[in-house]
Amino acid sequence: MTEPLDEAEVERPRLGRLGPVRVRVPAKINLHLRVGDLRADGYHELNTVYHAVSLYDELTARPGDTLALTMEGEGAGHLPLDESNLVVRAARLLAEHTGRPPHARLHLRKNIPIAGGLAGGSADAAAALVACDALWNTGLSRDRLADLAADIGSDVPFLVLGGTALGTGRGERVSPVLAPHHTWHWVLAFAEEGLSTPAVYAELDHRRANGIADTVAGEPDTLLAALRQRDPEILAATLVNDLQGPAIALRPELMRTLMAPDEVEALGGIVSGSGPTCVFLAADARHAAEIVAVLERSGLCRTACAVTGPVPGARVV
Ligand code: C5P
Repeated sequence: MTEPLDEAEVERPRLGRLGPVRVRVPAKINLHLRVGDLRADGYHELNTVYHAVSLYDELTARPGDTLALTMEGEGAGHLPLDESNLVVRAARLLAEHTGRPPHARLHLRKNIPIAGGLAGGSADAAAALVACDALWNTGLSRDRLADLAADIGSDVPFLVLGGTALGTGRGERVSPVLAPHHTWHWVLAFAEEGLSTPAVYAELDHRRANGIADTVAGEPDTLLAALRQRDPEILAATLVNDLQGPAIALRPELMRTLMAPDEVEALGGIVSGSGPTCVFLAADARHAAEIVAVLERSGLCRTACAVTGPVPGARVV
């Protein structure tokens, strides 16, 4: 008769390595976005406050013999699935950095619109770093992942971190904002078509060169104080985005979208990042639902949805 094995002697399968690993990653908005001068490397110096909201993409990673990406949902079919895709770039970078073969079958479910000013592509890259780190058992710290993330795009380190954070440099240097926990209610209004981020920055440069826009000093002190007060009316008054003017110059109808929720007195309306998504601050969940209804009735946007923030960055679920 065989002796039953002591439980401690049984080699347990390491489930994380066999997959699948599922990672959820949020969209971001910028509560404060001040754009400084154009640098020699083609980027602008930023002073921003990032805020992660509850609109998520989901990336599933399974073991495979090669690196392969499939995609469904928002914008699927419009994005290349080859080496230019930020998910593929992120997986390859992590593999190179840790000396592993870049083998994984990745499947992306998109809800965050492409070219919407919500950092959807950067979010997916952050998800790929976190998912492949778990699948390959590379065990990198969040800080090391954030360093790799910066090589992929300016917003990627924030999407590894999540929450509410200050961003400096070209946006890649992030540090968490210390504020008492509070859930903010927002409404996102999605446009029919995306806007190119480089085109919006170029429009800002053009406006500054022609004296249409100024370069303003960018400290977010009033916004940070407003976050601590946990009062949406006070926060609404401090939202600022230097890319809003250029985004509206390229897409004038955004002005009407921003005005649409006036009838239910949205507390503040602003273009998200480089646009064209517009973000409105609501007093509570019920107010957010009213703003969604007004926006959907207005016909001025493709669709609208209520979200909350802050939420964590890319996480295994
Ligand atoms: O970093 P990322 O690749 O996401 O940036 C996309 C583009 O946005 C850059 O190529 C640049 O044109 C513009 N950008 C910028 N300054 C920043 C961030 C982005 O000019 N701080």
